[in-house]
Amino acid sequence: MPSYHLMGKVPRKRHMVFRDNEDRLLYEEIFGTEGFSGVYSILYHHQLPAASRDNQILGSVAPEIAPLSPHRHRHIKAKALEQGGDPVTGRRILMVNRDVQLAVAAPTAPMVLENGDAYFYKNGSHDELVFIHEGQGTLETMLGDIDFVEGDYLYVPRGVIYQLKFREDIGRMFIIEASGPINVPKKYRNPFGQLLEHAPYWERDFRRPARLQTHDQRGTFYLHLKLNDMVYQRTLDYHPFDVIGWDGHLYPWAFSIHDYEPHAGRFHVPPTTHQTFEGPNFVVCSFVPRQIDWDPQAVPIPYFHSNLDSEEVMYYAAGNYAARRGIEIGSITLHPRGIAHGPQAGAMEASLNAPRVTNELAVMVDTFNPLELTTLMDTIDDPNYTNSWTQEER
Ligand SMILES: [Fe+2]
Repeated sequence: MPSYHLMGKVPRKRHMVFRDNEDRLLYEEIFGTEGFSGVYSILYHHQLPAASRDNQILGSVAPEIAPLSPHRHRHIKAKALEQGGDPVTGRRILMVNRDVQLAVAAPTAPMVLENGDAYFYKNGSHDELVFIHEGQGTLETMLGDIDFVEGDYLYVPRGVIYQLKFREDIGRMFIIEASGPINVPKKYRNPFGQLLEHAPYWERDFRRPARLQTHDQRGTFYLHLKLNDMVYQRTLDYHPFDVIGWDGHLYPWAFSIHDYEPHAGRFHVPPTTHQTFEGPNFVVCSFVPRQIDWDPQAVPIPYFHSNLDSEEVMYYAAGNYAARRGIEIGSITLHPRGIAHGPQAGAMEASLNAPRVTNELAVMVDTFNPLELTTLMDTIDDPNYTNSWTQEER
């Protein structure tokens, strides 16, 4: 997590003369969040990082919001959506509010323009947390490369220029875009930021950029910059991965959901036990295979809960969800505020004699402001899901 990291070459002191091997001056950039008050890194560029040769508006990617419909539980099978696009253009936005934007993508193409040139991407207004459901590859960034596999969370702070490359260009992702920084919860850190012993992970579980590739190269390069819902194209006459060295606390990282160490109890533990990350007005939780609820009198499935002031989104990544009617791998449910949810009819009775172990793998996002559905989500919603709690007279 954002502990100090250094890659490549940096000068002995900040703000001092720094030259490359050919005696050319290098350009220092403070790359930071929350004005000059948040975490930051210091980068050294071959080229002027503000330079561009041409600027165009590419267009809006604002999702269409669905009209108001009855307030009920929702379920979609995201795998039923058509695959396509690249790791950026293939994103299909399902739910939004002022804090987060939740999307899925199943790309089948690399990040390449119609003219055949690769393009680079920068999300200028949102931090990204990308859950890799299927596929493997490399996240290439101006701050170095991170290899990824299934089950990885990839964190890309806003402003990082990147290319997401899947092996054979095929993958599947669940993407959280946040209007502010995404962090490890404070309850897992000591006053110095170090992870505490009760945290469900440790610093060595977070994979930092492993290779810094410095391209001191002139030519024509395309950078797509997203600011809120608009995408702009900046044409550069230098390769945007021109950083010769950097150090600081702000950089992309990867964390595997398989490295999340679950906490379990003799009786059912609350969802907050599974918290993994936090962002502005939302949390991310990881549900991973574990022993559960081993007291003979324990009810080994969740109790009903009314999330009166939050919206609960679940992305089902792996495991056996046969006990949850209609849920499949790749399903997404939304249990909104104002109505209770819990085990479906008959599930509690069936659970009592079941093995006290679960093989579930799921990512949960709880938002504290209401989510709006996009028309895409509304169109593929399973209207029968909300009736799955209805039971015959007992
Ligand atoms: Fe829940």
